Amino acid sequence: MNTQKADKGYDIVPASLDDVPGIFRLLQFYSDQEVLLPRPESDIYRSLRDFRVIRRDQTVIACVALLIYTEELGEVRSLAVDPEYLNCRLGYRLVQHIENEAQRLGLKKLMALTYVEDFFRKLDFNVVKMSVLPEKVWGACINCHKFRNCDEIAVLKYINQKKTPKEN
Ligand SMILES: CC(C)(COP(=O)(O)OP(=O)(O)OC[C@H]1O[C@@H](n2cnc3c(N)ncnc32)[C@H](O)[C@@H]1OP(=O)(O)O)[C@@H](O)C(=O)NCCC(=O)NCCS
Repeated sequence: MNTQKADKGYDIVPASLDDVPGIFRLLQFYSDQEVLLPRPESDIYRSLRDFRVIRRDQTVIACVALLIYTEELGEVRSLAVDPEYLNCRLGYRLVQHIENEAQRLGLKKLMALTYVEDFFRKLDFNVVKMSVLPEKVWGACINCHKFRNCDEIAVLKYINQKKTPKEN
């Protein structure tokens, strides 16, 4: 844990128009490393209301989005923490925040497609087969250049109920 920069209770807030370049830079940094899918700025503007951010000195240091697919299913998307602030529990807090929001909305399941399976396991997500995800998710995946070669791991958590998804 980076104790100097350890989570000092930075607020999680809805993203504003001024945050778009910062969100874009953060996502681009990780998409260059092929751990996140690239998102053009125009796409971030379109889904700006889905985003929550953590800022320090007006700069975005972490972000996440909640995408809603159906009356039951939401996705944790575009989760990224500035490399200077890793291991300060910002990622953990952002996912918990999204989960609370999803619960408040009445969603039943939260999923993510990820390479950091162990991070999500710590938040009580379970690995599931891609095939358990509904067609709507596949609809989004069709536009991805990795569609035929997808190596991301699907993780799922039941919220608002006690059921645990079956592991692979
Ligand atoms: C994954 C990511 C969001 C984690 O953010 P973070 O703020 O550094 O994580 P936290 O400090 O909140 O860590 C919470 C817990 O997860 C663990 N953890 C953090 N990153 C991890 C990783 N890459 N793999 C496994 N466990 C991880 C921490 O050790 C901590 O465990 P603990 O509760 O036992 O102490 C961050 O590394 C990141 O932005 N990665 C690149 C983008 C990405 O992969 N996003 C996910 C796409 S769905």
